[in-house]
Amino acid sequence: MQRLALRWRREGKRVGFVPTMGYLHDGHMSLVRRARQLAGKQGIVVASIYVNPTQFAPTEDLSAYPRDLARDKSLCRDAGVDVLFFPSDAEMYPGRNSGGYSTYVVEKRLALGMEGNSRPTHFGGVTTVVAKLFNLVLPDVAIFGAKDWQQAAVIRRMTRDLNFPLKVVVAPTRRESDGLAMSSRNKYLNPNERKQATILSRALKLAKEVVTATRKPINADLLKKRLTALVATQPAARLDYVEFFDGQTLQSAEAVTRGTHMALAVFVGKTRLIDNAELR
Ligand code: PAF
Repeated sequence: MQRLALRWRREGKRVGFVPTMGYLHDGHMSLVRRARQLAGKQGIVVASIYVNPTQFAPTEDLSAYPRDLARDKSLCRDAGVDVLFFPSDAEMYPGRNSGGYSTYVVEKRLALGMEGNSRPTHFGGVTTVVAKLFNLVLPDVAIFGAKDWQQAAVIRRMTRDLNFPLKVVVAPTRRESDGLAMSSRNKYLNPNERKQATILSRALKLAKEVVTATRKPINADLLKKRLTALVATQPAARLDYVEFFDGQTLQSAEAVTRGTHMALAVFVGKTRLIDNAELR
């Protein structure tokens, strides 16, 4: 992969990169379309599929994570991906289980709250694998989905702090017609849970309505209580967190106004889903 990327660099080709964990859906395909726009017709679009073990805690769904490489390959081909990179664990982390791999990249600020609270080892795995993928693919631009808002902020910060010579672009969340954000993990939901999973986008909608109904700042704790009660109306749903913050700095907000960002994580049955939006 890196040899190919170095050749493209010598040839002056622009490279757009979409890192994924596979089991692709229309959200991923919109990132691929964005990569093509940004790389240009003469440029190269690379997608990667790698279910990165270092971003999963031992209690999480690494082995159950949905995979369908044959389908993913065909979707990528149809979407005009030039190169699909799907390395193995042995290639990405040679000797990891026997002490042969020991270098990790950790962002120490933006990675701390929200997802970092609930999944303390998660972002260290994400930044490590994304740094490695950046070094392998050598992209000019890398595209990430806004559904993982905190992830995108952490990666943007890592890119800046470690001087990766590329631009990080965040593309909008794609949603099903009933509002559920597209995610590979939606596959885990049974029909009853699938219906209740719309509670995440309904919570965002309620927060937007509350915020736009008044010009006064709203107490974040009061709004959290209202949203917690809303989530509790769904028997299969359990709120992990709901947070209000500045969309750029991720600094927590005590008063919620138009433009404040909201993120939430909810277990629906055993499936943990996340969503976020700017409240306006
Ligand atoms: O968002 C994802 O799919 C993953 O976290 C990423 C960025 C591909 C790293 O494994």
